[in-house]
Amino acid sequence: QQEVQQLNDEIIERLKEQNAVLVAHYYTDPLVQALAEKSGGFIGDSLEMARYGRDVEADTVIVAGVKFMGETSKILSPNKRILMPTLEATCSLDLGCPIDEFEAFCDAHPDRTVVVYANTSAAVKARADWVVTSSVALDIVDHLDRQGEKILWAPDQHLGGYVQKQTGADMLLWNGSCIVHEEFKAKGLMDMKAMYPDAAVLVHPESPDSVIEIADVVGSTTQLLEASATMPNPQFIVATDRGIFYKMQQRSPQKSFIEAPTGGSGAQCRSCAHCPWMAMNDLERIKQELIAPKNEVFVDDTLIEKAVIPLNRMLDFAS
Ligand code: 13P
Ligand code: SF4
Repeated sequence: QQEVQQLNDEIIERLKEQNAVLVAHYYTDPLVQALAEKSGGFIGDSLEMARYGRDVEADTVIVAGVKFMGETSKILSPNKRILMPTLEATCSLDLGCPIDEFEAFCDAHPDRTVVVYANTSAAVKARADWVVTSSVALDIVDHLDRQGEKILWAPDQHLGGYVQKQTGADMLLWNGSCIVHEEFKAKGLMDMKAMYPDAAVLVHPESPDSVIEIADVVGSTTQLLEASATMPNPQFIVATDRGIFYKMQQRSPQKSFIEAPTGGSGAQCRSCAHCPWMAMNDLERIKQELIAPKNEVFVDDTLIEKAVIPLNRMLDFAS
């Protein structure tokens, strides 16, 4: 406890000295989220993190999350210094969509509007017409569908399938997935629902279709957090990374939050309900980054020029 307090104090001091802010995703360690709050920084979903990083008046933004979040901040704020606790924190969706294969896929379907999930590299974004996050994917695809556009979607097949089902849009899907959310299991979730009849089921749309079907609410991390605070249920079964329980419990101390069941257990299940890359963000790494930065995010200028267009399209649409 004392050690955490000391680390917090040291980091806050250095953030002030460097006119820097800490921006954290809901899946990071509760200690990191608590520090983001305490230091006057920000916690949010991936869309809100991007917007905040762009708008905040600071020289340096420390992004506690995964690589695509740091890159998005750099693309939107090329004049700010963007640091990350580690550049090793990636995402299975980003890894599963290499630019050369993606480019070939797009080239083979020139009649389709290219819509990519934010969980992708800067190069993939630079090849896209639109970037979306889970909080605006449905609305943006619905908007494109109404204009009669056919869509090429990448990389998350589950979110893509969900959006396709909801909007009826003509979508050609890449077959990527999130190693955390694809572990949630419908059978176990049904059994759990029977055990907790008063509980509402909250599901992130990167989960398999069979799990999404059981949900009372499907949404981005912020949308699920909002539902947990506003719905009257005393309990919630939550199919997303357990890092979000920190904020859910803080907003609703009288309610209880239960992890949705996953396929594996113990050592076999490195990614069950907790993203191994989000877990790489810790207080010690944040401190080291402020003392001797070695994880600054750089994005090639030509990629920034191209990727900022579909990113701004999303931010303008969402505002
Ligand atoms: P959100 O956009 O809901 O924050 O999701 C990002 C993410 O990586 C979920 O796994
Ligand atoms: Fe990527 Fe899944 Fe981790 Fe989110 S939880 S960063 S989608 S691997």
